[in-house]
Amino acid sequence: MEAKDIKKVACVGAGVIGYSWALYYSLKKLSVNVYDITDDALNLAKIRIHESLLNLKKNNVVTDEEIKEIESRISYTTSMSDAVKDVELITESGPENYDIKRQMVEEMEKYTKDDTIIASSTSGLLITEIARDAKHKDRFIGAHPYNPPHLIPLVELTKGDYTTDEVINTAKEFYQSIGKEPVVLQKEALGFICNRIQMAVYREVCNLVMKGVCTIEDADKAVTYGPGLRWAIMGPSLVFELGGGKGHVDGLMKHLNSSISLWLHDMADFKDFPEEFASIARKGVEESLKNRPKEIGNDDESLAEYRDKMLIEILKLHNKL
Ligand SMILES: NC(=O)c1ccc[n+]([C@@H]2O[C@H](COP(=O)([O-])OP(=O)(O)OC[C@H]3O[C@@H](n4cnc5c(N)ncnc54)[C@H](O)[C@@H]3O)[C@@H](O)[C@H]2O)c1
Repeated sequence: MEAKDIKKVACVGAGVIGYSWALYYSLKKLSVNVYDITDDALNLAKIRIHESLLNLKKNNVVTDEEIKEIESRISYTTSMSDAVKDVELITESGPENYDIKRQMVEEMEKYTKDDTIIASSTSGLLITEIARDAKHKDRFIGAHPYNPPHLIPLVELTKGDYTTDEVINTAKEFYQSIGKEPVVLQKEALGFICNRIQMAVYREVCNLVMKGVCTIEDADKAVTYGPGLRWAIMGPSLVFELGGGKGHVDGLMKHLNSSISLWLHDMADFKDFPEEFASIARKGVEESLKNRPKEIGNDDESLAEYRDKMLIEILKLHNKL
């Protein structure tokens, strides 16, 4: 199968991630079957899709007319057979648990075509293990999105031991064709690329706060108004390429190496977050929210709304919307 043959997709599991994938596919003019195990779960997905569309309308991304079209391309069902029998790609976003995902694989394979690509949203389980009992192990991939998938372009693609190059290449081309930015991991790695980078940063946030160097609020402020602004435009290596001036990135690394080495030796390298940090982070976030005006988000709801509004503006600058 080629990427251009993928016209219809199924989203199996329609929670926080599944509904958002379904919305994205429909925004990109694909027909989508949404499957979940209960009508209540499907109704919630429908509501979330509608609310997200209203938010996109508020930010001038879609019109009322387009909302109707987008919603009309999405069907909802609790029948696995109806969901997967005529699709070319399935996005699996069920609970993060091998037993449940394997059960879902068994159900999907009963009804789906033999060459349908099955892409798991798993945040960290191994594709080889998810597909352990599958009939056609070669067509399983990991396609790890960032929340919310209908706004964040990154998708980290992973192969299992049996995944063919043809399948991963088709998937990569498909995601590119619908405006995603796929990155293929050359080998499986726990946490993929970005969760590792995020946790490296957050480990140091924890370290700085626990040592009394800064508050949670100031660490967030430092990232948002410092490197975060640059990272929304280009990655850390390109940022350092510019930081190196005529010496480029290698010049910067050589020039600062002895100084960087001092910081690295002083930085955290713990393997488990200290238990007390969870409540320290929570208190820090509460304090931080108290100090923010409503228009940039000062509770979870307004914060999510502000995040999506700003993401939309940044995506427009990237020509991604
Ligand atoms: N939440 C995130 O930020 C995030 C980010 C990236 C990836 N993921 C991954 O996406 C997947 C889904 O996570 P989520 O946050 O959407 O979880 P969620 O709990 O919001 O949704 C899971 C959905 O799966 C449904 N479900 C349960 N059993 C099922 C079955 N047998 N068949 C089909 N559907 C079933 C549930 O009813 C629910 O709607 C997980 O693998 C998770 O690791 C989550």
